[in-house]
Amino acid sequence: MIWPLFETVKLSPILAVDISPWAGRQAQLHILRDDLNHPIVSGNKLRKLKYPLLHALRQGYCGITSFGGAHSNHAHALAYACQQLKLECRLIIRGQEASAAQSATLKDCVDWGAEVIPVSRQDYRERHQSDAQQRWTKTNHLLVAEGGSTTMALTGVAEALDARTEPYSFIATAVGSGGTAAGLSLGLTKKQRLLLVPAVRDQQLPSRIAELLDTAPDQRQQAAPMCWLTGYEWGGFGRLPTELQQFVAAFYRHTQVLLDPVYTAKLCFALVSEIRAGRLPPDGSVLMYHSGGLQGWRGMTDKLIPEMQDCLATPR
Ligand SMILES: Cc1ncc(COP(=O)(O)O)c(C=O)c1O
Repeated sequence: MIWPLFETVKLSPILAVDISPWAGRQAQLHILRDDLNHPIVSGNKLRKLKYPLLHALRQGYCGITSFGGAHSNHAHALAYACQQLKLECRLIIRGQEASAAQSATLKDCVDWGAEVIPVSRQDYRERHQSDAQQRWTKTNHLLVAEGGSTTMALTGVAEALDARTEPYSFIATAVGSGGTAAGLSLGLTKKQRLLLVPAVRDQQLPSRIAELLDTAPDQRQQAAPMCWLTGYEWGGFGRLPTELQQFVAAFYRHTQVLLDPVYTAKLCFALVSEIRAGRLPPDGSVLMYHSGGLQGWRGMTDKLIPEMQDCLATPR
């Protein structure tokens, strides 16, 4: 039964926040707080994992094998969900460094019964190849791609959008592996546009999203128009320079919304900058998808400025 896990899911509120201090004029940003949908399997993770988990249970798989980094939100969410659903979980983890193997995120995974297999960064590059996947996947396990971005994930992500999100002209999301963007694009109305902010420098992202959409069984509509906001990668995946930390800390003080350091920090900074520059409307017609996943903070404790440490120390 998958439902004990999903019974705890709450309807994610939509919050209107005043971004005038950054926009330089009266301006609003609305945020779909999917980070609040579950205490552990939060945000896009819950969305992406719903149908793969259902499939694994219905088809009688013993467990799930998947991939991620030492601070992966996906690995953390999957390990917890598998424990709750009495499925095995095998995680192939990028990097064999001691710090990676002992990350707080992976310790949780192990405590929840996951088998953690660190592999070298070089071997990890083979994760998309079928022979490596076969070698790593435990017998009678369902293989779930890195970040949970599989065709089966898309329907669950599209469910994040509903009648409440229809009035917005723009839905904005951060992009890592592309599954969230592909899924959201299936949930848009014909009048809406999807704004994509990559958290990683990867030229292949548009084609990866297109491939995911090509395999989607439920193509209710042509892929919605997508608009890429690039130049907000801050040097690449997982980079969180001081200026961005200052923004996240100030945004938290002003709105009480904590952004994650890898994805939504870059997304929110990009939206605020585009609104300030007049390239996006300031009237609250942009809805930012808060995809949750705050594991990234646990991997950055030694790199944080004092304001950011104070934010994280504040009880929420
Ligand atoms: C919190 C969070 N937001 C956004 C993303 C990006 O999603 P995707 O990998 O589907 O592009 C991820 C990664 O899965 C994530 O963990």
